Amino acid sequence: MPKSKRWAAKLAKSSSCEPIFQLEGVSCRFGAVAALSDCTLAIAPGERVALIGPSGAGKSTLLSLLNGSQAPTSGRAIILGQEVGRLSPRKRRRIQRLVGTVYQQHHLVGNLAVIHNVNAGHLGRWSLPQALWSLVWPQQVEVAAQALAQVGIADRLYARTDRLSGGQQQRVALARVLVQDPMAILADEPISSVDPERSRAMMDLLRQLSESTGKTLVISLHEVEFAVKYCDRIIGLRQGQILFDSAAAQVSSAMLNQLYQL
Ligand SMILES: Nc1ncnc2c1ncn2[C@@H]1O[C@H](COP(=O)(O)OP(=O)(O)O)[C@@H](O)[C@H]1O
Ligand SMILES: [Mg+2]
Repeated sequence: MPKSKRWAAKLAKSSSCEPIFQLEGVSCRFGAVAALSDCTLAIAPGERVALIGPSGAGKSTLLSLLNGSQAPTSGRAIILGQEVGRLSPRKRRRIQRLVGTVYQQHHLVGNLAVIHNVNAGHLGRWSLPQALWSLVWPQQVEVAAQALAQVGIADRLYARTDRLSGGQQQRVALARVLVQDPMAILADEPISSVDPERSRAMMDLLRQLSESTGKTLVISLHEVEFAVKYCDRIIGLRQGQILFDSAAAQVSSAMLNQLYQL
């Protein structure tokens, strides 16, 4: 087993009952802006959590702390039992590989075939020669094909990415995260500016993937009704602070009014 896989397996085993994500009194500042202030939360393996709140509340910043791309200004961010701020760059990259993120802008290379975009999910693991060679002679075709089958577009492996519809490109971005084989999937507003039918399809897919693989899911959403329908737990963020952290069924209209009041 490759060293990185062994390390991932060890982390998975040691953290099977510990929270996968833990923030302890975390604040995150960008110059004078306090994007997050004194946030404390723990997310257990397999949970499906929605982050909701007005624009600028700190949702994207919170996701970037959970995937290790941002370190807190103060407080502790612990991912898979490892405190992010204390890790060497190499260990931090390994942790980042275990947390896959789907962004609203898919960051796909339009003029490449779908397989190359999906295979970009391997880049953290592949050597540079292997990555370059794969552009000429695609590597791990079966893994990519399986990921595309999981997201429902098995037949698009060699299609040019920019010829796909917006919904299909979103699925390619998700397939790229799946080949990374992360323990958790984070999605930053995956259904913003998308029609209701495509939103439902994407949320159905994310839920089905988390149910079938047991992967933890943390999704930031503007659409409260989707958060309630698809997630078990809802964290309401307002002005960088956690206003509530409740089971989806417990979220009341009074809580939502307070969250979104002007
Ligand atoms: N890289 C950055 N540099 C400066 N300010 C930032 C940066 N990222 C986020 N912010 C600020 O932090 C606050 C929270 O932003 P963000 O996490 O993007 O909120 P949300 O995703 O809920 O809309 C906002 O005021 C935003 O302008
Ligand atoms: Mg955002």
